Amino acid sequence: MTEIVLLVGGGGREHAIARALADDCVLYNCAGNRNPGIAALAEDCEILDATDPEAVTSYAREIEATLAVIGPEAPLEAGVVDALDDAGIYAFGPRREQARIETDKAFQRDFLDEHEIPGNPDFETFEDIERACAYIEAYDGNLAVKPAGLTGGKGVRVVGDQLTAEEAKAYLRDSEYDRVVLEERLVGEEFTIQALVANGEFRASPAVQDHKRAYEGDRGPNTGGMGSYSDTTRELPFMTDGEYEEAVSILEATVDALEDYKGILYGQFMLTPDGPKVVEFNARFGDPEAMNILPVLETLLLNVLVGAREGEALPDLEFAEQATVCKYAVPDGYPEDPAAGTAIGIDPESAGDALLFYASVEERDGGIYTTTSRAIAVVGLADTIADAEGIADEALSVAGEGLRVRHDIGTPELVRARIDHMAELRE
Ligand code: AMP
Ligand code: GLY
Repeated sequence: MTEIVLLVGGGGREHAIARALADDCVLYNCAGNRNPGIAALAEDCEILDATDPEAVTSYAREIEATLAVIGPEAPLEAGVVDALDDAGIYAFGPRREQARIETDKAFQRDFLDEHEIPGNPDFETFEDIERACAYIEAYDGNLAVKPAGLTGGKGVRVVGDQLTAEEAKAYLRDSEYDRVVLEERLVGEEFTIQALVANGEFRASPAVQDHKRAYEGDRGPNTGGMGSYSDTTRELPFMTDGEYEEAVSILEATVDALEDYKGILYGQFMLTPDGPKVVEFNARFGDPEAMNILPVLETLLLNVLVGAREGEALPDLEFAEQATVCKYAVPDGYPEDPAAGTAIGIDPESAGDALLFYASVEERDGGIYTTTSRAIAVVGLADTIADAEGIADEALSVAGEGLRVRHDIGTPELVRARIDHMAELRE
C-alpha cells in the first residue's frame, strides 16, 4: 500500500524530514510558509496555520493521509496530534500532554525529580518574579534563568556566562514571564541525542553538537542554532562511548516514565566531569540537528512511522559511518535585527557535494530571498568532520552578500577546543 504522509511544518528540519520520506511515499506538506525545498518533493504544499488543529486535520482528511509527522513544537503544544489521532490519522508526535516535557520547563524538571531520573540539576520554580530575584540574590553560585514556556530557544540567560546576577534580575523584571525556572548552571560541553519512540520502544541516533551562539568563537546572543556536527561514531570527539550510553539511558528512563510517548524525544545534555546532565528535552527533532542525522539514516524513516502506527516493533536504526557538518546562513543582523529581502545566490546545483536545505525563505519573481530568520542550511558528509566541514563551507561560498555564516563550526580548531575544554574540566 502506498502511504500518504502529511508533513506539518516548513523549516529546514522539515525539509530534511521531507527528503528522508519523499522517495517512499506520497508526500504532502502544510505550514504557514511555502518552503521551496519541500515543494519540490511534495505533491502539494498547503499554506495554513499549523497550530490550528482543525485546519491541519481537515487538510489531512482532504488528501486522505494515512500518516502524519509533525516537525515543530508549536503544533504539538496546540494539540494538533490529539486532533489527528482523534480523527483516526496516526500522527508521529506526542499528544499535547506528553509534549509538556518540552513545552513546560517547570513540568520537565519536576517530572525528572518525581521519577528519580538521573541528570537533573538543582532547580526551583517561581511564579512570583520578586521571589525569583531574591533567590538569585541569595544563591551561592551561578544560575540559568529559564522562562517556563516556549521561547524558540531564545529565552534562557545564564548567569556568569551571558550576564551578571544583577542583569538577570533586571531581565526578569523587564520581561512578561509569569513562571520561571532557576537552575544550577551546568558547565561542560553540550550535545544532543534524538530518539525515535513508539509502542514503548526506543531507538537512539548518534550524538550531535549544535552551536547556539550567533557569532564565531561562541559569542553573541543565543539563536535557534547556527550549525552542528556529528562524527562517524555515535559519540562525539570529546566524550566516551560510556558517556554516550549514560545519556541514552537517561532518555530511555524518561520515555519509560512518560508512558505511551510517541514521536521524537530530543535530549539536550551538558557533559560535565560528573557525566551527562539534562539541559532540556524537546518533543521533536532538533533544527539543525535533524539535518545531521536524517541524511545518514540508512533505515527507511517511513518504515519507522508505519511500524509505529501498526503497533509493531520499530526497526533497528542503521546509520552510515559518515561525519556530518551543517551550517546555517542567516540574514545579517540575525537574531536581534535581521535584514530580510536578500537574494540567495545558492541552489542545489551550486551546492556541489553538499546537501542544501531551505528554511525561512520567500520565493518571488523567480528568486529566493531571506526573511527574518535562519535562511538556508548546507550539510557536508564525509569520512571526517574536517572534510565534511570543508564541503559545507565551500557550498556557502556562493551564498551571497547579506548572509552570515559561522565558518568556525566543525573546523579542526573548534573541535580541538571542545576536546581540550572537556579535558581541562576533567582534571
Ligand atoms: P534551552 O532553551 O533550555 O535549550 O536553553 C538554551 C541554552 O541555554 C542551552 O542550549 C544552554 O546552552 C543554556 N542552558 C540552559 N540551561 C542551562 C544550565 N542549567 N546550565 C548552563 N547552561 C544552560
Ligand atoms: N537546535 C536546538 C533546537 O532545535 O531546539
